Amino acid sequence: MKNLHNALLLKQLYLLKAAGQRYTDITPSDLQEDPADLPDDLEALRKIVEGCHLCDLSKNRHKVVFGEGNPHAELMFVGEGPGATEDSTGRPFVGRAGELLTKMIERVLLIPRSQVYIANVVKCRPPGNRVPTPTEALTCRPYLLKQIEIVSPRIVVSLGSTAYRYLTNDDSPIGRVRGHPIAMGRYTLVPTFHPSYLLRNPSAKKEAYHDLLTVKSLMEAHK
Ligand code: URA
Repeated sequence: MKNLHNALLLKQLYLLKAAGQRYTDITPSDLQEDPADLPDDLEALRKIVEGCHLCDLSKNRHKVVFGEGNPHAELMFVGEGPGATEDSTGRPFVGRAGELLTKMIERVLLIPRSQVYIANVVKCRPPGNRVPTPTEALTCRPYLLKQIEIVSPRIVVSLGSTAYRYLTNDDSPIGRVRGHPIAMGRYTLVPTFHPSYLLRNPSAKKEAYHDLLTVKSLMEAHK
């Protein structure tokens, strides 16, 4: 199944090349992995993601940042994509934004960071920390969807507009949707600001704190 998928993918790329295209910013649907074709095991999935070359981000990465945390977490955080520190360590949210996220988890939610699961929309660093292109985000999204399916959290907190957009297919501004829980089927999504945004706009920390209290009460309601 996997070999067939890869052969079709390669064929499509050769066709694009023969048509004179050196680079495509369009994601043909066959270039996206189907979450259903991915393994139901986090470590097997990690191996696949670590060998992924489906988009241009793979060319400049030092390390794939797959995600980390409790594989059975009730609470999961989803960011946008690795920054420089994450790219060099292979771990999500370990730079300045990560320090703030860790404080948000440990000082407001009062749970150790190791108890939650943390992942990103894209697993390889976008150059210069730019926002991932739709092609990059959509190509990588099946990995994230599979991670969510395997970890099976009750609550997912999307950090910033990119995570919100690619989990919901909704382009609404994050300032409008933040703090409002959304039923997503198997889990409840709580959108909030990205920690990097909070570092640049400390006055928004008040709202993020409020969003985390919403997360806390949702977790307590399910106990
Ligand atoms: N920003 C993100 O969105 N993810 C990280 O892992 C680090 C910074």
